[in-house]
Amino acid sequence: WEVTWDASAAVKGGYETFMDKEIHEQPVAVADTLRGRVDERGEIQLDEMRIDPAVLRSVDKIIVIACGTAAYAGHVAKYAIEHWCRVPVEVELAHEFRYRDPVVSEKTLTVAISQSGETMDTIQAVRHAREQGSKVLAIVNTYGSTLAREADAVLYTHAGPEVAVASTKAFLAQITACYLLGLYLAQLRGNKWPDEVADYLAHLAQMPAKIQDLLDGQEERVRALGAELADKTSFLFLGRHVGYPVALEGALKLKELAYVHAEGFAAGELKHGPIALVEEGLPVFVIVPTPRRPLLHDKVVSNIQEVRARGARTIVIAEEGDLTVEPFADDVIRVPRTPTLMWPLLTVVPLQVFAAALARAKGLDIDQPRNLAKSVTVE
Ligand code: G6P
Repeated sequence: WEVTWDASAAVKGGYETFMDKEIHEQPVAVADTLRGRVDERGEIQLDEMRIDPAVLRSVDKIIVIACGTAAYAGHVAKYAIEHWCRVPVEVELAHEFRYRDPVVSEKTLTVAISQSGETMDTIQAVRHAREQGSKVLAIVNTYGSTLAREADAVLYTHAGPEVAVASTKAFLAQITACYLLGLYLAQLRGNKWPDEVADYLAHLAQMPAKIQDLLDGQEERVRALGAELADKTSFLFLGRHVGYPVALEGALKLKELAYVHAEGFAAGELKHGPIALVEEGLPVFVIVPTPRRPLLHDKVVSNIQEVRARGARTIVIAEEGDLTVEPFADDVIRVPRTPTLMWPLLTVVPLQVFAAALARAKGLDIDQPRNLAKSVTVE
């Protein structure tokens, strides 16, 4: 007899690459990260939160420390945690935090985000924060990892093992865990009415189904777009509010996987420099906020017009039913309607699919891009 199946394909669950598999595991990663953490009264119960509630109530600043994609999850979380808890949140790359003289005290909560829990830059930064009296909460995906062991408390992301070097499902799980933390702190500190917390939790609970709808509806088109644009050598990504870190992550995915120049910008910054880069045929992704936030929305729509007028090829990620973008978009990727703070959990997905598709079209190794490691255990 002869073996007609490929063992590595079996591990990949029928997908061509681990990254494809992990993109498709995102609904489950979000659901698993939420599971068991909300009780029947709609209150968040974080059994692992081994930091004294009195300390958490007295926290006057949160510093989020991470690297790479995990840092972008922290950047997203800043918008939500500040809104819900009215506590200032700083997000800093671990290697920068470590070598300056940051203001840290016993009232600072340091939140370290890491898929592996073994990123040396992040571990060193956490040690630096602890030495100055800060409590450390680790948001990690890997049980028993160094960060998990060294932190005062751990909030695990339940994304399951992530094999592809480029992070996908861990990112969504990190945002989900940060949101649980933010709502938990709001609940504990009495910043939000219980029904407001419950409302956001209900929206979070709907995200797995919406991510699935998005994949079902848009994946094929986005893959085709990746193949179509495979000869482009430069890409811009624009976003505002929580769309800004999504733009940064979209650009990072493209650099990591397709080895092309890609930059993410805050859309409002366009006129302060980046617009000079726009020339005929340059692909520009724009993440458009919901029209239910007209001030935000209309500014981003005018950014699309500005780059289009200079010849950009515009690829617009917009809410279902938002027709205002149509006249200025060469392509529109439609995303299910959701509150602004939940928007990153959806809008990043087509950017992941696009980066993988472009790399595939170029014949590159999607799971093991050149020069990169899944976890960087040296400083
Ligand atoms: C490496 C990986 C990235 C990852 C970053 C942080 O650079 O290639 O995908 O986002 O490390 O890793 P961590 O395990 O700390 O989340």
